[in-house]
Parts: sequence; structure tokens; C-alpha cells
Amino acid sequence: MNKSYINRKKLSSFSYLISALLLFNIGCSKDSSNPVIPTDNPLTNPLDPFEQNKRLGRGINLGNALEAPTEGEWGVVLKEEFFQLIKEKGFNSVRIPIRWSSHALTATPFTIDQKFFERIDWAINQSLSNGLAVVINIHHYEEMMTDPVNNKERFLSLWSQISARYANYSGDLFFELLNEPNNQLTPDIWNQNILEAIKIVREKNPYRTLIVSPANWSGVENLSTLNLPKDENNLIITFHYYNPFHFTHQGAEWVSGSNDWLGTKWLASALELENLSRDLDRALSWSTTNNRPLYLGEFGAYNKADLISRAYWTYYVSRLSEQRGFSWAYWEFCSGFGIYDQQTKFWNAQLLNALIPKNV
Ligand code: BGC
Repeated sequence: MNKSYINRKKLSSFSYLISALLLFNIGCSKDSSNPVIPTDNPLTNPLDPFEQNKRLGRGINLGNALEAPTEGEWGVVLKEEFFQLIKEKGFNSVRIPIRWSSHALTATPFTIDQKFFERIDWAINQSLSNGLAVVINIHHYEEMMTDPVNNKERFLSLWSQISARYANYSGDLFFELLNEPNNQLTPDIWNQNILEAIKIVREKNPYRTLIVSPANWSGVENLSTLNLPKDENNLIITFHYYNPFHFTHQGAEWVSGSNDWLGTKWLASALELENLSRDLDRALSWSTTNNRPLYLGEFGAYNKADLISRAYWTYYVSRLSEQRGFSWAYWEFCSGFGIYDQQTKFWNAQLLNALIPKNV
């Protein structure tokens, strides 16, 4: 794998006590989905972002596919059956990370490759026709992180093209402006880019719900760096959660020094739950003060951690987020953090049940 990574900051604690138990059996509620044609129901009215956030509900990232330099390079090629399986298990939405920057001209007019666009059409249509809401984003635009000034025009042009192509799609399609702004894309520059990107997208998509993330890797402590346009109501704000980082990223090949963390457990001790609750309460407090709905767009623990700890952590992060009214998307479906094995076609029952418990 060819991923570079900078450590996200660890956060500290507050108090919370909870006495739920993990249920280690699979939840498999089946929903019959009415196939829809994505353009059947174009948007004609402003949407309520809090209602839209409920629509996102419980989701999963289809990671390591379309945000790899080319699809397949990181071991995942999206298949029709993935969407059906995800729907069948009770998820409401998918988040599809996309590396547009590897499939667009680097000089003006920054045209996006047609074949790549058609592949994205397919993925969106698969989601919608299976009754899943779908978030598409700009992911791994690394040049934007190292040189935001010289990449701004290209970033805006990507949104102009994406926005035009999907203008007639239903409100179940969400646009997320950029994954994990970081490095030279400082909060000040990013806040300015948010304004300009929203303006461009709104030309063709006046009513679509947009998703915006804070700078510095979108950690919970960075929500307060966002400076959002006051007259723009139809936004959902997203943050990512991987704390404690030494637990979730132990042994991750793209994080230097992470082998030293192998063996770190997370067993829902009172202190661990306090820390988690404190972090999520911080997000909730920002959400309430600013009257913006929150989407926990990524959280997950890598498969080098022990399964019991991963299941506990996944269960509590998703439940405590739901208790605070956040929608969420687990990172990710079928790779190193995954809950489904492409080869054996088995679900990881513990993780699936941690996300979607049978009786909760
Ligand atoms: C990155 C992935 C990474 C994951 C967990 C995501 O935001 O895009 O490449 O595997 O975080 O570290």
C-alpha cells in the first residue's frame, strides 16, 4: 500500500457510565428495496439537513476502492452484490471515497475522465437503486493538502463538473466537499475554500444537502475551527473518530511506529467510556451551539487489534453517537478495518452486530 499518514491527535477524557452488553449474534433484518431510477425525483425544494441526517443513519464506507490511485490497486473493486448485502444487513447509507484527482487533467479545463465518471455513475446508481443514501466526496487529493493555493482552481473545477453531472439526482445523493483537509490546507484557507465550493455547487444544486468537514484531519477538536456561511442552512457537518489512536491504528502499515502499539486493548472500562463520552459530548456541544447536524463519517479499528476490543469499541462509538443524534459511517467494508470478507463471503459477525445490534 502506498498511503502516507500523519498521526491524528489523541484526545482526553470526561465522565460517563453505561452498562449495555455486546450481543454477539448477527442482526439480519431484511428490507425489500424498491428500485428507483436516480433521476426520477429531482430536488425542487430545500431539504431539512436534520431530516437528511436521519436518512444517512447507519452507514458504511466503501473504502479502498475508488480512492486508490486506480480501482483495484488496494484490493477492492466494487461489486453489485456489495450494495445488496449492505442494504440487507440493515444499513441506511454508504459513503464512497473517490480520488478524482487521479482521473482529471492537471491543467485547465481539468476535465474528468469520462470512463471514470461512468464508473462513479454506476456506483451511485447501485446505491440508490438498493435504497441506500449515498455520500460521494473528494478523497486523497494530496496535492491540495501540500499546495492549496495552486490547486484551488482545480478543486473548484472538479466540483463544478461533479455538480453539473448529478444535478438531477434525488436528495439521497449527498456531496461531501473534501476528505480530511490537513497540512498546508489550514483552517483559514479551508474556510475560504468552503465558501467558494458551496457557491459553485449551489449554481446547479440549490437544494442538495452538502457535507463539510473541519481542517486538521477532521478530528472532533477541530469542529470549532469551522467558519460556515450563516445563510447556508442545508449543510451536515462531518468529523472522524479514531481515538485512542494507538488502539485503532496498532500495526497499521501506513503509520510509522505503530507496531509498538500492538496488543493495545479497549475493553470498555469506566475510564475508556469516560474518554469516549467526553469526546462525543464535545462534538454534541458544538452541534447544539451552532445548530448543525453531525455525521461521524469515519471510525474504525484496524484488524491487528484483537477482535473483542474492536467489537466493544465499535459498539460503543456507534451507540453513543446515536444517543447524541449523530449519523455515522463505519470505516470500512471489506479491507483492513472491514466487516466483510470478499474471499469467503462471510461477515464478521461480532463487528456487524456491534454496529447493528439485533435488539437495540
Ligand atoms: C483514509 C484511509 C485510512 C483511514 C484510517 C481514512 O481517512 O482515507 O486511507 O485507511 O482513514 O486510517
